[in-house]
Amino acid sequence: MKITLAFAALLATFALSSAQEPAWCRCAAFVSSRHMEIMVLELPEVDVSDCQNNNQCRNRCINEINTMTNEMDLWSTVNGDTVGQYFCEELFSHGLFWIHNSYVHGYYQMCGGPWEYTGVDSQQALCCTNKEHIHCVSKDITWKPSIPRSITMEIATGKAGVEQAANAIGCMSVQQSGEVAGRMVVQQCLSASLKLKRAENEAPEIVEIGRGMVVFVCFLEKATEETVDKLSKHVTNVRLCENDSGRRVSVCDVQGDVLIVPQATLGGKLKGKAMQYHMNIDKVFGEALYHKFCHQVRSSSEKVSSGNVKCGVYGTRQVLSMDTNGPYTHIVEV
Ligand SMILES: *[C@@H]1O[C@H](CO)[C@@H](O)[C@H](O)[C@H]1NC(C)=O
Repeated sequence: MKITLAFAALLATFALSSAQEPAWCRCAAFVSSRHMEIMVLELPEVDVSDCQNNNQCRNRCINEINTMTNEMDLWSTVNGDTVGQYFCEELFSHGLFWIHNSYVHGYYQMCGGPWEYTGVDSQQALCCTNKEHIHCVSKDITWKPSIPRSITMEIATGKAGVEQAANAIGCMSVQQSGEVAGRMVVQQCLSASLKLKRAENEAPEIVEIGRGMVVFVCFLEKATEETVDKLSKHVTNVRLCENDSGRRVSVCDVQGDVLIVPQATLGGKLKGKAMQYHMNIDKVFGEALYHKFCHQVRSSSEKVSSGNVKCGVYGTRQVLSMDTNGPYTHIVEV
């Protein structure tokens, strides 16, 4: 008798769960570039009548996004902080310390389908330094707000982080899998110095290191946070330095310094007589990843070595001098 009851109960649950699933519609804001989308705000779900009604979901999201962000005015305030400040803090929590002239776009997602662009954009470009929402200073905005594409982001359930956005990118570019996402040239040195250009009438700032290595790094369009993790681990772990008894050890083993030079030209490909850089990452995200890379190398070096980690400035001309010792120059790709 018990068995029959249990079976009946099972049937009842089955009948319940096969009833029509409720329709749901998610609304969110993403910082978007050509190669990466990062969710910066997820709003409460809105009600929709069924999973076919895309326009309803889209329109309700537009309303919700506009209401919650004062029509996407990044400089308007909500509870004492600017709207942009909320976005900067969210990006900071994903390790993106540096955002430069990025637009924020509204998206909607119907019943777990792909994220679709609502047509809503932020009124201004977003700029963040560390956690702070700052005024964008560049007069020459070369990166115009692109028309965002729909994001196939089945993975982005719950709160999407960079990692999930990165995974989504993986999905979008499967046909390119196996391609290099980050490339660095590592050179052992006795000393090195990098002259950084500052404002017109100021003397250049000089960044110097002693014995250790110079790392030239370039992120290509498939680069994600994972690329940064892998490359930064290689810098501190790989045995590319020679110690006093001639053995190959890591830069941390010799308590060496590291100078990290952003080198976007490493992404170049020869075409006829010219170099082309079509595979390079978008500048905004290249810069964010570069900052994260520096930060990661520095923090893992600090744990085990007394060496200093110094960094250049992304996207500017810089003059480098170095004394290299031995032909210990390597290319590392991930
Ligand atoms: C060089 O590295 C080897 C291997 O780790 C170690 O045995 C040796 O003591 C090191 N020499 C010096 C001078 O640190």
